[in-house]
Amino acid sequence: MSILINVNGEERVFDGEVVTPLLDVLRNTLFLTGAKDVCREGFCGACMVHVDGVAMASCLIPIGLARDKRIVTIEGLGRDDHLSPLQQALEDLDAVQCGMCFPGMVMSLTKFLEEKPAATRNEIKRSLTGNVCRCTGYERIIDAALALCQEQGSKS
Ligand code: FES
Ligand code: FES
Repeated sequence: MSILINVNGEERVFDGEVVTPLLDVLRNTLFLTGAKDVCREGFCGACMVHVDGVAMASCLIPIGLARDKRIVTIEGLGRDDHLSPLQQALEDLDAVQCGMCFPGMVMSLTKFLEEKPAATRNEIKRSLTGNVCRCTGYERIIDAALALCQEQGSKS
């Protein structure tokens, strides 16, 4: 079956089973490997993408349900020469370790900070309850998100 999805602003067609997880379509068909394939149970958050503006675990979404939706992956957030504000804040603080959790963290935090640009440290921590970092690198990630909130607050 042919299913039309919009990924990072481009119309893409997937030919296959409607139950195929969106994560597999992104990684194996579209070769967008930023969303990571880890638990496949919605537990770790490594496969997070935005679906119609909501951060969701792509391993739990059958491609049939993504039909006609706007999908944004980590590849659509920023480029090497033009990082998103959050990506830049994370880079500035060297907040990455192995990087496995990182795309999912960025996708979750980006959405959260859009809704709460002046979040507190505790609110940022709570927003990451669905993202597991095996390297236990949370503190610097939270530091970077908080620095961005403070920077945004000082400009407003
Ligand atoms: S791989 Fe999707 S939540 Fe872990
Ligand atoms: S940086 Fe390694 S899992 Fe988070």
